[in-house]
Amino acid sequence: MPSILFVGAGRHQRAAIRQARERGLHVVAVDRNRDAPGLALADAAEVVDFVDVDAVEEVARRHAVAGALTVSADRAVPVVAAVTERLELPSIGTPVAHRMTHKLAMRRTFAEEGIPQPSFAAVRNLAEGRAALTSVGLPAVLKPADSGGQRGVFRIETPGDLESHLHAALAESPAQEAILESFVDGIELNGIVVARNGTARLLTLSDRLRPPGAGFGVGWIHLYPATIHSDQLDLAIRTAERAVTALGLQEGIAFPQLIAAPDGSVVVVEAAARIPGGQMTDLVRHAVGVDLVELALRFALGEPVPDELVEPQFSQPLAIRFLTASPGPLPTGRVTRIGALGPVLAAEGVVQAETYLALGETIRPVRLDGDRRGYVIAIAGTSVEALERAEHAAALLEVEVE
Ligand SMILES: Nc1ncnc2c1ncn2[C@@H]1O[C@H](COP(=O)(O)OP(=O)(O)O)[C@@H](O)[C@H]1O
Ligand SMILES: [Mg+2]
Repeated sequence: MPSILFVGAGRHQRAAIRQARERGLHVVAVDRNRDAPGLALADAAEVVDFVDVDAVEEVARRHAVAGALTVSADRAVPVVAAVTERLELPSIGTPVAHRMTHKLAMRRTFAEEGIPQPSFAAVRNLAEGRAALTSVGLPAVLKPADSGGQRGVFRIETPGDLESHLHAALAESPAQEAILESFVDGIELNGIVVARNGTARLLTLSDRLRPPGAGFGVGWIHLYPATIHSDQLDLAIRTAERAVTALGLQEGIAFPQLIAAPDGSVVVVEAAARIPGGQMTDLVRHAVGVDLVELALRFALGEPVPDELVEPQFSQPLAIRFLTASPGPLPTGRVTRIGALGPVLAAEGVVQAETYLALGETIRPVRLDGDRRGYVIAIAGTSVEALERAEHAAALLEVEVE
């Protein structure tokens, strides 16, 4: 029975670990947190901080794994690439992994390849930050060059904002590097692109709606299909595919994030080299009937990825509503009671719902991906109708706080 290594075994990796086991694979998983929920599901679990590439390599060799992958964890992407390269397993390669995780390397490649993007500058200290403000302008976005999950991402409205947030942005970067970009207003789009034999094809494109305020980068609603039309839609599809090709991904799944501006243009925010966390995978399954986890396992193992597994089977409009605090459906405060999910699941159009809430935890205003405490997925004839159904269902979850 072939073994496969999961690098990172958190909440977002659970479903994929289960699926790999059901498919007959022997799952080896590493995570630095011994309580990581995915570790309990693996055949062999090891507590290893994946920042330590040598330690991950040692685990991979000892278990003679036939492939390695990560789900959702951007910081694990270069580790997976390095370990698979060292073991001569199927690999996207470390240069591609670097370009697809390090935001400056990515932006420089996009600049060389003519991929539309915000203006940007590297920032390692306040002096560079001030210079960057002059070239990039306001409003801007400050973020760590090599992090993820909206950690250390700030909207910069004034020069003072830069001074206030630079330290926090740099602190989230292992390389102590940040990037300042012009803020692009518009509709954010998430793409799922599959690259085979060097050819990138877009599978789904969906709207990623964001809350106002400090959580401006957090996706709290996904709508499929995307709501943009005609020329801009074609441009977005082509831009997503070109971005992935420009970064050099030959075989694998990519997760480009774009912004469609009101003037009809499209810019690339970033493109990750992995399958996104649970709910984008669920989006693809419910929306077009394609199983991204199966594709990711095949890419990791170097197995063929035939057309019939990649082609959309149908196109089903849907909405994903994350459970967040106001203006989402959840209250803020310490959780004292969590009602049943049954009524949510039974609501019209709901195909999937989950909560990660625990008694005693504190629900905070939306700031990070992690402030999403569950989700509802609903289908309907249109995405707008699906969103109404998801909102209605989400409101049926009773949560009490103190
Ligand atoms: N230049 C930008 N203009 C407008 N919004 C941005 C910009 N850069 C990032 N954002 C918002 O912040 C979010 C997080 O930024 P991103 O670069 O994707 O970092 P992360 O690696 O944390 O996902 C994006 O999904 C988007 O909503
Ligand atoms: Mg992102």
